[in-house]
Amino acid sequence: MCGIFAYCSFLQEKDRKTICEILVNGLARQEYRGYDSAGIGIDGDNRGEMFFFKEVGKVAGLRKKIAESNVDTSKTFLSQVSIAHTRWATHGPPSVVNCHPLKSDPKAEFTVVHNGIVTNATALRLVLQKRGYKFESDTDTEAVAILTKYIYDSQPDKRMSFTELVKTVLKELEGSFAFVFKSSHYPNEIVTARRGSPLLIGVKTEKKLKVDFVDVEMAGPEETMDALASPKSGGLLAPPQAGNGPNLLRSQSRAFMSEDGMPQPIEFFVASDASAIIEHTKRVLYLEDDDIAHISEGELHIHRLRQKDGAPPTPAHRTIETLEIELAEIMKGKFDHFMQKEIYEQPESVVNTMRGRVNFDRNQITLGGLRAYLPIIRRGRRIVFCACGTSYHSCIATRAIFEELTEIPVSVELASDFLDRKTPIFRDDVCVVVSQSGETADTILALRYCLERGALCVGVVNNVGSTISRETHCGVHINAGPEIGVASTKAYTSQYIALLMMALQLSEDRISLTERRTQIIEGLHALPGQIKKVLEGDKALQQLATGVLANQRSLLLMGRGYQYATCLEGALKIKEISYMHSEGILAGELKHGPLALIDENMPVIIVMTQDSLYPKVQSAFSQITARKAQPIVIANEDDEGIPKGVKTIRVPKTVDCLQGILNIIPLQLLSYHLAVRNGFDVDFPRNLAKSVTTE
Ligand code: F6R
Repeated sequence: MCGIFAYCSFLQEKDRKTICEILVNGLARQEYRGYDSAGIGIDGDNRGEMFFFKEVGKVAGLRKKIAESNVDTSKTFLSQVSIAHTRWATHGPPSVVNCHPLKSDPKAEFTVVHNGIVTNATALRLVLQKRGYKFESDTDTEAVAILTKYIYDSQPDKRMSFTELVKTVLKELEGSFAFVFKSSHYPNEIVTARRGSPLLIGVKTEKKLKVDFVDVEMAGPEETMDALASPKSGGLLAPPQAGNGPNLLRSQSRAFMSEDGMPQPIEFFVASDASAIIEHTKRVLYLEDDDIAHISEGELHIHRLRQKDGAPPTPAHRTIETLEIELAEIMKGKFDHFMQKEIYEQPESVVNTMRGRVNFDRNQITLGGLRAYLPIIRRGRRIVFCACGTSYHSCIATRAIFEELTEIPVSVELASDFLDRKTPIFRDDVCVVVSQSGETADTILALRYCLERGALCVGVVNNVGSTISRETHCGVHINAGPEIGVASTKAYTSQYIALLMMALQLSEDRISLTERRTQIIEGLHALPGQIKKVLEGDKALQQLATGVLANQRSLLLMGRGYQYATCLEGALKIKEISYMHSEGILAGELKHGPLALIDENMPVIIVMTQDSLYPKVQSAFSQITARKAQPIVIANEDDEGIPKGVKTIRVPKTVDCLQGILNIIPLQLLSYHLAVRNGFDVDFPRNLAKSVTTE
């Protein structure tokens, strides 16, 4: 969680920009990553002078605070290197003191913004406090800022470069992080590094760059500062060594010269997410875990922190890629909220998931990223789906069709529980990790656990360039486009389709399944039009939210078979944005407990679309109405079996394994209207963040 942003400009004086505006906009774009406080740090025109603006709450509050301050933030300051942060609290409550950037001391010799959790921060804090350093905040990040100052203070001749200093600091840290460091001792420089949290750097120049990559400068054999960093050799308690520092093999950065070979005016944008960069430039490079990037004098140098024993060497350079998203894609347009926009985008987003992959004339599916791995997957002993939250529900939704088409046993795992149980995984297992962001910490850890055990790991991810998409052996991008609303909607339907396409592709050689496959592929063809039809029912759903469901405290959703996932996902949507207690119940389990909850006052939605389990769901309907419940039914358009007077949400009929895609949409809309009706912040539900990058 948390969004970090830094701006480093090496433009000529006349071209300098108003930094505050750039920083605050960079935070606003990443607000979905955390929104309990926001802050920026900029240099004043006098040496060592730094201004901080921090505010609890959303970025709009910070913007207001800056506008009302005495500092003339509309002017262009001499230094154009500055950092910013939007926070989702992990250590210490949301407050101005805990807001980033965090500084090492009142003079702000070192300032840091951080996304992630430093798990040994308490131990570091104790050691540093013993040495007389004072802490102001409850955060783990402040320990990092103070540690940096301690190491800097400890070297008698202060000859260590900023990169070497940060490298020494990072070696002391456990946990996950993306950091940006800034210091009055190294003016106009920043160092940024990642391990476990995403980080990318945008590059903006007038002229075309000479090359499209940045070399990684590997560490040399001599690393004398390790003596300081290693806990075995005394760690922080050992006296620091003067002198050389890590012997980095320097190479001239050619990337930032223009084609004519001349250095050129340049701007760099560091961020947790591409959405903060796209309005400035589409040219970006993604940092890998354990990369340290140093920006100074218009150049970017990338170094490695360490090379894990046995790990494959990382590539020798980081490619400068071109982002393919447009700014318009991450704006709200005519909609009131991102969530609403994303629900309405589903007729197009499902097409984008299928684009170039489904041949409707030949009933064929081609997922290019999987093609080479199909024989290994087919030979697999079992398939293990692993995910969290909504992504987990997409796995539940498609498990039955996966088993039917592939005849391979499938288990579905919540990533955290999978890890807690230390689930046995073997070389002939196929692990499919599903994640919208590709950055969910639990899912990444589950993935690495499977990789270590030699399983083939397949990623199903929305966010291109994310950790999961880079660390899996192969995979499918769901291509749903950026999802900004914290409550996942279009990613769910696209994950659903991506997993279904995977099952279809895996079964392409099974003649006996031709008819079933044809039926499903034809169903996929009709789906976008049918989604549009469901969206037309929005007004009626709004009326339910503002009418019969308006003041309820609880809501049960029931269904079975393919619709169990719909109930789980619908209940999650309702609870996370409308804060109403809501529970998805497998209708087959009704008699084993949940029936006790039913009376005339308990609101129930029952998903009763026509598939092979329809008679069984009808019997659940009878059982609850016999106990005076007045359920709202989700039923197919032409189903005349629904008793008169029952409130009914109608959806078009499709193939059983696709029906869940149509059935979830009314529940997405219902949760949206319940939240709006109650005046809640739809896109930023309390206590949640879009990308859960901590365990
Ligand atoms: C719910 C929601 C979360 C995410 C979960 C996993 O609307 O968005 O439950 O689905 O945190 O996130 P990803 O898919 O990014 O791994």
